[in-house]
Amino acid sequence: MKWNILEIEKDVKEALSEYRYKHSLNVMEEAASLAKHYKASKDDIEKCKVCGLTHDLCKELTEEENEQLVKKYNLPRELLSKENKNLIHGFLASVIVKEKYNFDEDMVLAIRYHTTGYPNMDLLAKIIYLADKIEKNKNYPGIEQERLLAYQDIDEAIILCLKNQIKSLKDKNRRINPKVYDTLSYLEKINSK
Ligand SMILES: [Fe+2]
Repeated sequence: MKWNILEIEKDVKEALSEYRYKHSLNVMEEAASLAKHYKASKDDIEKCKVCGLTHDLCKELTEEENEQLVKKYNLPRELLSKENKNLIHGFLASVIVKEKYNFDEDMVLAIRYHTTGYPNMDLLAKIIYLADKIEKNKNYPGIEQERLLAYQDIDEAIILCLKNQIKSLKDKNRRINPKVYDTLSYLEKINSK
């Protein structure tokens, strides 16, 4: 494996609060378990683990730090808009892991869009999206059904998670990133019989 997972774990611990560091370890564990369940190769299981570990690496940055990174890496300014509030931490983490650890492109994408998914996601991206939602410490209405489906039909599980995500954001009057709808309609289309 070209990554030193212990070293990365140390970096993640330093970047995050205890609470979110634990969440990251739980996502790593859940991602590995899903990867094994869906018979991923040994290499892909490792990729799932290391993406689960790092997906929230930039979640606790201040708005100022976000802005500095957008500037530094010449990223689209729209990332700083309200609409992308839930997307920016994944986007920034994906840029950092690429530069710092030389993660592969599939890993970069899985981390970049872990809050919204994207049409035509690969297994790695599906696993990271789901593991983030259903890791063992999470608890919200509908999670039991999501957990169950996650190990039966990964696409149906993601469809359910996206719908629950939309409902919960609507209930809180929060903005929904259009990518959430893109992912949902794509998955519904390819899974309709
Ligand atoms: Fe997360």
